Amino acid sequence: MCGIVGAFSRKGAVLDGMLEGLRVLEYRGYDSCGVAVVEGEKVEIRRKVGRLTELEKLLADGALAGARIGVGHTRWATHGAPSDENAHPHSDGSGRLALVHNGIIENFLELRRELQAEGRVFTSETDTEVLSHLVGRELARGLKLVDAVRAALARVHGYYAIAVMSPADGGALVCARQGPPLVVATTADAAYLGSDVLALLPHTRDVVYLEDGDVAELAPGSLVVTNLAGQPLERHARRIDWDAEQASKAGYPHFMLKEIHEQPDVLARTAFDRILSASGDVSFEHGDWSDARLRSFERLQVIACGTALHAGMVAKYLIEQLVRLPVDLDYASEFRYREPVLVPRTLALAVSQSGETADTLAALRLARELGASTASICNVMGSTVVRESDATILTHAGPEIGVASTKAFVAQVVAAFLLAVRLGRARGTIDANGGRALLDELRRLRPRMEALLAPETIERVGAIARGHVDAKGFFFLGRGVNFPIALEGALKLKEISYVHAEGYAAGEMKHGPIALISKGMPIVVVNAPGSVADKVRSNLHEVKARGGHVISIGSDAASHELADESIDVPATIEPLSAVLNVIPLQLFAYHHALARGCDIDKPRNLAKSVTVE
Ligand code: G6P
Repeated sequence: MCGIVGAFSRKGAVLDGMLEGLRVLEYRGYDSCGVAVVEGEKVEIRRKVGRLTELEKLLADGALAGARIGVGHTRWATHGAPSDENAHPHSDGSGRLALVHNGIIENFLELRRELQAEGRVFTSETDTEVLSHLVGRELARGLKLVDAVRAALARVHGYYAIAVMSPADGGALVCARQGPPLVVATTADAAYLGSDVLALLPHTRDVVYLEDGDVAELAPGSLVVTNLAGQPLERHARRIDWDAEQASKAGYPHFMLKEIHEQPDVLARTAFDRILSASGDVSFEHGDWSDARLRSFERLQVIACGTALHAGMVAKYLIEQLVRLPVDLDYASEFRYREPVLVPRTLALAVSQSGETADTLAALRLARELGASTASICNVMGSTVVRESDATILTHAGPEIGVASTKAFVAQVVAAFLLAVRLGRARGTIDANGGRALLDELRRLRPRMEALLAPETIERVGAIARGHVDAKGFFFLGRGVNFPIALEGALKLKEISYVHAEGYAAGEMKHGPIALISKGMPIVVVNAPGSVADKVRSNLHEVKARGGHVISIGSDAASHELADESIDVPATIEPLSAVLNVIPLQLFAYHHALARGCDIDKPRNLAKSVTVE
């Protein structure tokens, strides 16, 4: 939550670049935003509630256009409602510094009282403002900016990625990290920082991921990283293979639609190079995925949040079915506090698009403390989850900008399928022929996904979605591997269309929720031929008998016949049906939200990367 940027240039102006950086970071929060730059001996701050376009209006006078040092912020409110006063950057009233922050300062109230007792005046309700006063107090004592930041952080409990700048000593830019992500980079004439590499890609592909406890001092062509005690640290640059073009809409009206359309390529990038056709097996690059290691586990513990949890649930179905290895699944936020008990030889598997979700990260750390080995399925190389896992399967979905996750989900499910095959081959539940057959089916998904994304199908899904634009609520039902798909379909609709949608295990409906069904209520039923198809059909009868309007999605022709409306999905094997069935559900949510005039890529109240608890 919240995105921060900073830049210090020897020659050129930094404002436009920072605004571009904030634009690609808006997925992290977008209720208010602001920038600060050094102008001569003073700091100038402009901040505004609302989207970046509002801030741009404030900047249209060009007054700050020539500045060479700046910081910027796009906010997802935690402490204090979205307002001009609570927007970042914050200062201490001295005009000598500006600070932006992503995270939470847990002891801000006691620090605020202490600072107020010294006569310092606060102008916002944020926890962040104590940081600017703490730094300001140290600057007033004559410390250099980097030393002042260190001294201030020594007083703070909580987590943060911060950037601070000051006109002192010809200009200084310092950032620090404890928790939320922070990436820095230098070029010959400039230095940059951002919450995500996406903000840095227009300038360079060689970036340094800061680690927890790092404090970095940036200047054109120079980066000095130390710990909180001031001892120097070595941090190496990594080359990023994403490019700035991938973070553009490429002609689509919304990132979400573009990302849905990328899914056939995402499948290919995540899976095809890893398939070993001759042995019916799979190879992974990062960490030890050997037979010996995979045979040593007794249990798998999946931890994740949101959409990633639904992918983790698909992993549970796939791995238990194909590998016969027991899999437990927890919301990361529940795992952390339920005093979990892990059996010896547990592999904890974190699933995360960003690799920075606070709860997922904390749950992964806890699992390690409890003796588990750790692994992750993650989309961001260099992210904290990846760095802290013993082994990783990188999903090559590319940057996902739409707040509602689509292609990252499909990539996670594909990675889970690859993992199931690798585990099965290692543990002897899948032989070479079996592995080949499964992987061949995976390859065949690509043209089937493309068929699903043909204009006729999209138009048909759109027409059905528009037909239910006034519905007060939806149920999404599925069983087996398509139960998590029902959950995901409902989540997508909630997230972007703001209608109540409930995903349910189809067989569980009769134990309560069926009471909610009234005449004409849309019930989306996801089904695929296989082990539970006839059971799902029975559940479909039950809801229809109570007046439900059934929309059947999948490749089960018999379900379509029973339904009021249907979207046929190309056939595949049952374990892979999840990958195809989710696509019409994504499109359904997209068109429903479009018909309701919602802000699809930036739904209200949400942020893509949730770095607070
Ligand atoms: C947020 C996003 C969701 C995402 C979840 C987990 O809630 O809005 O789309 O599924 O975080 O994020 P992660 O990056 O860990 O997959």
